[in-house]
Amino acid sequence: MQVAIDGPASAGKSTVAKIIAKKLSFVYIDTGAMYRACTVIARNHHLDYGDEEGILKAIDEDGIELRSENGEQKVYSAGKDISLEIRTPEISANVSQVSALPKIREKMVALQRKMAGETNVIMDGRDIGTTVLPNAEVKIFLVASARSRAERRMLDFQERGIETDQSVEEIEKDIAERDYKDSHRAISPLKKADDAIEIDTTNLTIDQVVDTILEKIKKNQKKL
Ligand code: DC
Repeated sequence: MQVAIDGPASAGKSTVAKIIAKKLSFVYIDTGAMYRACTVIARNHHLDYGDEEGILKAIDEDGIELRSENGEQKVYSAGKDISLEIRTPEISANVSQVSALPKIREKMVALQRKMAGETNVIMDGRDIGTTVLPNAEVKIFLVASARSRAERRMLDFQERGIETDQSVEEIEKDIAERDYKDSHRAISPLKKADDAIEIDTTNLTIDQVVDTILEKIKKNQKKL
């Protein structure tokens, strides 16, 4: 079974996807982490973030691997755990540019489809329901106000021990900018699939969102 969860940055996708994956023993795939890894690789190779061919070559050299360690998804590249590095403000500020490069998307989408073909998955991103897994049995589109998403991201930084000198207002501005870029790029922009269910998480608890999605999945499992 394939479950697709799309939506803008910090709408709660990864939080709920992880919980659901654990409850149902599905594999969780964070596709944003893959584009972030591409951005880390570009920076490590001192490449321009628009250098499509250069970045592709560097990805081939270093590789990107998602590993599950003690129930947590870790990202490895060139033999190194880059799970924390992919979340820094520098990478967040440049990932939209890298993820807009067509050949990089092509490569990541192929990898994502391969992973989804092997087992039951819950995959989160921007284009999962529209492009990566158009036949996913359950498609969810999560949204929330930019302010509440900025507050969540700040909390996330604190919990992960990432130091930031950004204020909530600055994070909100970054999020709004990234939303705009992600929604307006030429290829696979952030867009709700016609058959996706939209959930506004602004005033919902994590448990409420999880329960709503679990219900949709269970209904669908009954149909199978
Ligand atoms: O979900 P995230 O914030 O970690 O995603 C990082 C960036 O990657 C985001 O700006 C958009 C891009 N992205 C994408 O283009 N397609 C996806 N399926 C997932 C993320």
